[in-house]
Amino acid sequence: MKDMTGTTIYLEDYTPPAYLVDEVHLTFALAPEATRVKSRIAFRPNPEAASREFFLHGEDLTLISASIDGVAVSPEITEAGLICDVPDAPFIFEAEVEIAPVKNTALEGLYMSNGMYCTQCEAEGFRKITYYPDRPDVMATFTVRVESDLPVMLSNGNPGASGPGFAEWHDPWPKPAYLFALVAGELLNHPGQFTTKSGREVELNVWVRPGDEGKCAFAMESLIKSMTWDEEVYGREYDLDIFNIVAVDDFNMGAMENKGLNIFNSSAVLASPETSTDGNFERIEAIIAHEYFHNWTGNRITCRDWFQLCLKEGLTVFRDAQFTADMRSEPVKRITDVIDLRGRQFREDNGPLAHPVRPESFVEINNFYTATVYEKGAEVIGMLKRLVGDADYAKALDLYFDRHDGQACTIEDWLKVFEDTTGRDLSQFKLWYSQAGTPRVSVSEAWEDGRLTLTFRQMTPPTPGQPQKDPRVIPIAVGLLGPNGDEVQETTLLELTQAEQSFTFTGLAARPVPSILRGFSAPVILERKTTNAERAFLLAHDTDPFNKWEAGRALARDVLLRMLNDGAAPDRAFLSALTTTLADDSLDPAFVALVLSLPSEDDLAQAQVDAGRVPDPQAIHKVREHLLDAMAEALEDQLRAAYAANQVTGPYRPDAEGAAKRALANTALMLLSRRDGGALAQAQYDVADNMTQQLAALSALVTAGSGEAALKAFEDQWRDDRLVMDKWFALQIGHAEPGDTAATVERLVAHPDFNLKNPNRFRAVFGALAMNQAGFHHDSGDGYRLMADWLIQLDALNPQTTARMCSAFQTWRRYDADRQGMIQENLHRIMMRDGLSRDTAEMVARILE
Ligand code: TRP
Ligand code: ZN
Repeated sequence: MKDMTGTTIYLEDYTPPAYLVDEVHLTFALAPEATRVKSRIAFRPNPEAASREFFLHGEDLTLISASIDGVAVSPEITEAGLICDVPDAPFIFEAEVEIAPVKNTALEGLYMSNGMYCTQCEAEGFRKITYYPDRPDVMATFTVRVESDLPVMLSNGNPGASGPGFAEWHDPWPKPAYLFALVAGELLNHPGQFTTKSGREVELNVWVRPGDEGKCAFAMESLIKSMTWDEEVYGREYDLDIFNIVAVDDFNMGAMENKGLNIFNSSAVLASPETSTDGNFERIEAIIAHEYFHNWTGNRITCRDWFQLCLKEGLTVFRDAQFTADMRSEPVKRITDVIDLRGRQFREDNGPLAHPVRPESFVEINNFYTATVYEKGAEVIGMLKRLVGDADYAKALDLYFDRHDGQACTIEDWLKVFEDTTGRDLSQFKLWYSQAGTPRVSVSEAWEDGRLTLTFRQMTPPTPGQPQKDPRVIPIAVGLLGPNGDEVQETTLLELTQAEQSFTFTGLAARPVPSILRGFSAPVILERKTTNAERAFLLAHDTDPFNKWEAGRALARDVLLRMLNDGAAPDRAFLSALTTTLADDSLDPAFVALVLSLPSEDDLAQAQVDAGRVPDPQAIHKVREHLLDAMAEALEDQLRAAYAANQVTGPYRPDAEGAAKRALANTALMLLSRRDGGALAQAQYDVADNMTQQLAALSALVTAGSGEAALKAFEDQWRDDRLVMDKWFALQIGHAEPGDTAATVERLVAHPDFNLKNPNRFRAVFGALAMNQAGFHHDSGDGYRLMADWLIQLDALNPQTTARMCSAFQTWRRYDADRQGMIQENLHRIMMRDGLSRDTAEMVARILE
C-alpha cells in the first residue's frame, strides 16, 4: 500500500478557511500532453478564521511559475499542495501549471474522452487542474478563457468574447471549485429555448459528438419540463443566459451539476426509440431533472464541507423523485424507489459499509457518494415533509432559499429552517442524520371492545463504530380496512418516538385489518407477524397502492422462504392471488407487472440472514426459478391474454402509459418463454422496432435457452453503438446460468469491444457479474477471483470506479465458511497490491473490518 492511504478526516475537526477568494481568472491553453493553466486569484484573509496558514490544494501538477502581487515566489510543494508566505491583507496570487489530460484515466480533473476535453471536479478534482483552496466553503466568481483550435469551447456561466482559437466565459454566481467545468471538442448542439416566469430568455443546448445529434430531443424536452416544474413547484427560476448539457462517453457516474454546464455520462442523455428502453428514457428524464434541480439545491446553496453532502444530494434526489412522480405514475415511482432502496441502501446499512446519512469521518470522500447519502438522505427529507405537512414544508423551503442563498451550509442550517417555520424541536429527528443502520420496527395488535391497539417496538442493530442506538422519530402512516375490504380509517400518521409505544383506534364495528407503513412512510424494516390470508386480503383490497404491492411482495417472500427452508411446493394461494391481480382491469399494468416480479435473489439471501440462516445462493436461485416456472404454468392463459391486451400500436412513444403496457406485456413474455421455449419471444424479436421490445425479447430468448441466434443478430446490428452494446454485454452475464457465469465473463472480456478504460463497459460486465448472485457466489469461487483480478487491473487506471465496485463483496459475512474464506482471500489479494489507490484501500479495509 502506498503512503497516500490512511489520513482520516473528521467532521468535528472542521475549521473555516484561512483565506477567502473573491475572484478567479483562469486561462487554459489546451494540449493533450501539456495543457497550460494560468490562474489569477484574488485572496483576502477570512476574519472568521483562527489560523493564517496559506495552503492551496494541488495534485499531479507541474508548477511553472508563481507570484504574489506580481512578485515571483517559490512556494513549498508537497504531494497534496502548496505552502507559501502571504500578506495578512488582500493579495493577488498568480500561477502557471502544466497538466497532461490525455494521460488522465482516472476521469477526475481535466481529461480526454474520444478527442474531447472535459472536466470532473466534484468532489476534489479541481486540485488536479490548478493550485486552489479546493473546499466547498470557498466560493468565488470565475472568469475563464479557453484557447485551442477546437470549434467548441465551453465553461460555466455566460459567454463572453470569442474568436478563432479562443472563447471566454464569465460566471457571475460565486461558486466552489467543485462546480467548475470546461469542455472543448468537435461537438454539435441540439438547441432549445426557455423563457423563465420573470421573462428571462435562456438559450439551451445539448452538445454531443457528431453522429449522436439525433438522440438529443428527449433530453431537451426533459430539461424544459424540469425548468417549468421547478418554477411551479418550488418557485425556483434559472439564473443565467445559457444552460449547456454535454454528453461524454467516459464518465465515472451518471452526471454532474456544474454551474450552467452540466456534464453527463452519454448513457444519461442520449435517447432514441431504437436504442433506448423505457427504463432508459425514465432514467434520463430523472437525471436531467436531478442535475438541473441542483442549480438551487447544491449550487446557489452549497455544502460547507463534504460531510454535508446529503444537504444537496438527499434534497435533490427527493426533488427529482417528486418530479418523476408528477410526470409519470406516483405509486409506481414509489414502489420502484423502495425496491431500489432495499436492494442497495438496506444492503449497505446492514453490512460493514454502514455509515450515517451524514458521515462523521472519511479517508476518501468519493467513497461516500452512496445509496445512504443519496437515497436514505432523500427518505429522511420525505419523513420530515410527512411530519410537518405539505404547507409547512413549502414554507420551510422558501425560508431555506431566502436565508441561505449564496451560502455554504450544514444540516444544522437545514433543520433550523424547519424548526423556525414550525416551532418543532427536531433534535430527536436529527438522529436520522447521525445514526447508521436500518431500524427494525415490530408491531403487535390487540383487539377488544371495538378498540384496536397497535404496539410498536423499534430497535436498530449495531453498525461499525456505533454499538448503541437511541430511539428515533419514526412516522408511521396507518389505515384500517374493514372485513369487507372497505377502508374504515383513512391514512393517519403515527409518530413513534419511543423504544416501545402503543396507539389505539376506537369506535370500530368489527376487527379491522391494519395497513401499516403506507407509502413506505419511513425507511425501516417492518416486522409484522401476520397470515398469508391477510396478505392476500391486503393485496386485493388495500387502498394504498404501495401497501397493496407490499402485501404481494411479503406473500411472495414468505412463499419462497418456505420453499427454501421447508421444501414446500409453490403455494396455491399465492398463485391464486396473482390470478386475481391479473384479472383486475382497474389496475395500472405497470403495477400488475410489479406484483408479478419476485423479490431478488439478494433480497432472499438477506431474508435468510434475518431469520438466522446461512443463505445458499444456488439453492435460492433454484427455488426462485422453480416458482417462476410454477407461475408461468398456473397463469399461462391469463398471461397470454395480458400479453395480447397490452400490445401498443402506432409509433413508439416513451410515455408512462405506453411504458406501463410494455412492462406488463414483457413480464408476461418473460414467463411465457418458460412454456414455449421462446417462440413468442422470437416473434417479438423479429418485428421489434424499439429497444424496449427488442431487448425484452432477447432476454426472454436467452432465459429460455434459445438466444444464440438473436444474440448474434443483435451484435451485428448494434456493434457500432456503444450504449446498446453495453446492454448486450450485461444481458449475457446477467442471464448466465450460475455454473456458466464465470466462463461468460471470460469470453466477454476477450471480446474486441471490451474496454477496461470505459466505465460504462466495465460496469456492463462486472456490474452484471455482481448482480448475478448465484453466478458471482458460485461454489467454484471463480466469480470472486475474476472480480478481484479485474478490480486490481482497473485500480491502476481508475480508482474511483474500482472502489465503488468493491461493494460487490460487502455482504460476505452472510455466507458459509468456504465462501467467506474465498472472498477474504481475494480481498487480501486486492489489499496487498502495490500502489493500490487510497479509494480502493479504504473500501477493502472497511469491508474486511
Ligand atoms: N454530484 C453529482 C450528482 O449527484 C454526482 C457526482 C459526484 C459525480 N461525484 C462525481 C459525477 C464524480 C461524476 C463524477 O449529480
Ligand atoms: Zn446529485
